[in-house]
Parts: sequence; structure tokens; C-alpha cells
Amino acid sequence: MSNPSLLILPGDGIGPEVMAEVRKVIDWYGENRGLNFDVSEGLVGGCSYDEHGTPLTDETMARAQEADAVLLGAVGGPKYDNLDFSVKPERGLLRLRKEMDLFANLRPAQCFDALADFSSLKKDVVAGLDIMIVRELTSGIYFGEPRGIIEEGNERVGINTQRYTESEIDRVARSAFELAMRRGKKLCSMEKANVMESGVLWREVVTEVGKDYPEVELSHMYADAGAMQLCRWPKQFDVIVTDNLFGDLLSDAAAMLTGSLGMLPSASLGAPMANGRPKALYEPVHGSAPDIAGQGKANPIACVLSFAMALRYSFDQGDEATRLEQAIEKVLADGVRTADLLGEDGVTPVSTSEMGDKIVEALTASL
Ligand code: NAD
Ligand code: IPM
Ligand code: MN
Repeated sequence: MSNPSLLILPGDGIGPEVMAEVRKVIDWYGENRGLNFDVSEGLVGGCSYDEHGTPLTDETMARAQEADAVLLGAVGGPKYDNLDFSVKPERGLLRLRKEMDLFANLRPAQCFDALADFSSLKKDVVAGLDIMIVRELTSGIYFGEPRGIIEEGNERVGINTQRYTESEIDRVARSAFELAMRRGKKLCSMEKANVMESGVLWREVVTEVGKDYPEVELSHMYADAGAMQLCRWPKQFDVIVTDNLFGDLLSDAAAMLTGSLGMLPSASLGAPMANGRPKALYEPVHGSAPDIAGQGKANPIACVLSFAMALRYSFDQGDEATRLEQAIEKVLADGVRTADLLGEDGVTPVSTSEMGDKIVEALTASL
């Protein structure tokens, strides 16, 4: 049988820096665990625009559709801020999500014990935290029509449309209930049914889907109150399901519960392919971090943890995913820190590449 294929799209800014560390981990699995992948690389984002005049070529799009999994670094940067919307780096990523129909975006926020002191929240609020945000990723205000900037009278109007069909809500709700069944059997759905019709429909459909999952304790919360509760007592949550825009905001907020945006991985999953694997793209939640790009300061853990999610959700290697997560936990417990994880303790930070080496060392020690 041929090896599973993995398309790597490092992207812009710190994307290629953190992806280089993931490559070390992938090589380690090939050499030590007999897990081999057919790895190929491609361009997405600003680097693709520079080369081809588009943030994603049709050829790369087709390769992504065929791959068993796609691993992406990050896209964007100030150099591209004034480009037309249609060719902005972010559009490359949005096209991948839309055309691969990756409707369920899993964004776990786990607080590693070694970092419990580092969060801006009190230690007892975040210690032991393990929650999963399921963000709808292919619809809502990100893609709704009409959109644009139009002239109206003597001024311009910016328009975006929040739009959800019942089936779009149904399928992401089912993904969230399925996850809740495998975790703590608690699901909180967040919308703004008090002011948005799409929120009213969201609440109705999620409640209906919930009848198929009687074991899961379902609750509903307005998304603004949910943001507050995430900061007040995040451990009340197990799985959260929410729309595209609220999920974007809530998952960045959740990132800080874990200490740094540089710690948060994600999996974007679609329907199963012919081989039974879900269409899938894995990427860190953070962006291209232009402020630290090119300086060897980026934390590669979010990207490495995204590969761990690929092992678990695309390649049926849950034990190896756990091995990798535990290796990272050990490195952090040993006090190894990139600059974003520094507290007041006077530790000298390691570089991106040194962090990758330490993770590989911990993997070897786990054998
Ligand atoms: P960002 O996530 O790039 O950076 C926010 C802050 O977090 C910065 O101070 C950065 O230095 C820090 N940070 C982020 N990742 C880090 C890491 N791994 N290690 C250490 N520090 C890290 O968000 P931004 O500054 O709002 O956006 C910059 C660009 O990235 C924009 O063009 C934006 O559109 C894009 N972006 C892309 C993605 C993606 O590719 N998925 C996600 C978010 C933002
Ligand atoms: C994310 C990012 C993206 C989003 C951008 C870069 C398109 O912020 O993945 O969280 O808004 O979804
Ligand atoms: Mn975001």
C-alpha cells in the first residue's frame, strides 16, 4: 500500500519557520515509528501571489483536494495589506476551506501544567483546562452574499451578510455532538439569538440535533456572555459549538487561557472521502506574526500540535498523537521556553529551531 499523502503549505511570515520544525517531527516518525508520508510542498498566500499573481493556484487547489491531509503554516503580512481583496493572501486560505468544504473547525484549548502560571488569568482558573471549540468554517458572514463596498447617496457602504442554512447548522452541530460523546458529554452552543435571526435558527437546529444525542448535556449561551464566561471560569465548558465569526473571536480569546497564541492548533474537517478519511486541513490558530518573522523567535508548538491532530483525525494514529503531545508537555515541564512563553522567571528563551530539536529529543526519549 502506498504511503498517505501530506501536502505542506508553509505560507508566509513565521509559517515556513514553524513548518521546518514540523518537518523534523515528520522525519522522526518515518525513521523511528515506520510512519511514512508522501510529503510534497506548495505555495499559499503572499508567497503564491509573488510567484503567480494569485494566493492559490488552481493546480495547488487540486493537489489539496487529492491529498490525504493538508498542513498549513500561516498566510498574510503587511506587504500585502493594500492588495485588492480578491488576491489577498487570506483569500487563498478561505478558498481552501470553502472548496474542500471543511465545515468543522476544531480548536482545542488545553493548558499544559507547566504553563498554568503563565496565563494572564489566575492559575486555578486555567490549570487542567481542556476545552474544544468547534467553529463553523465555510459559511456565515465570511461567505454570505451580498457583500462588498457600494455607493449609496453620497457615501460608501460596507456590506457583509450573515447567512446560515439549516443543513449547514445541522452538520456542524452533529460534528460537535459526536466530539462531545467522546469527551465530557457536555456541549454549549453560542450565538446571538436575542438579536440575529440566524441565531434563532442556529439554536432551533442545534436543539433538534441534540435529540439524537440524549446523553449529551446541551446548553445555549449568547456569544457575548460566552466570551465573558470563557474568561471567568473556562473549566465549565467541554465542547463549544459556534458560527464562523464568533468562533474566530472566541478561539483567539481561548488561546490566551493556554498561555500563548503560539500554543493553539486546529483541525478543519469535511465529509469523509472515498477512503473513509475526512477531507482535512491542519493549521495553527495563529497568523504569520510579521512582528517576529525572520528572527527565529516563533513558537512552533501550535504547528507541531496541528500535526498531532493530523495523526489522530486523518491517520488513525491516536497513540502516536498522544506521544507527541506528551513530548511537548515534557519539554515545557523541563522549562524550555520560546520568547512568547516567558514569565518573570528570568529564563533565557530558546529559538524556534531549538524548540523543535527539544521536541524531537523528547520523542526519542519516549521510545
Ligand atoms: P498573528 O497571530 O500573526 O499575531 C498576533 C500576535 O501573536 C503577534 O504579536 C505575534 O508575534 C504573536 N504570535 C502569533 N503566533 C506566534 C507564535 N507561533 N509564536 C510566538 N508569537 C506568536 O495575528 P495578526 O498580527 O493579527 O495577523 C498577522 C497576519 O496574519 C495578518 O495578515 C492576518 O490576516 C494573518 N493571519 C493569518 C492566519 C492564518 O494563516 N491562519 C491567522 C490569523 C491571522
Ligand atoms: C483564522 C484567521 C483567518 C480567519 C483569516 C486569516 C482568514 O484569523 O484562521 O483564525 O479569519 O478565519
Ligand atoms: Mn483568527
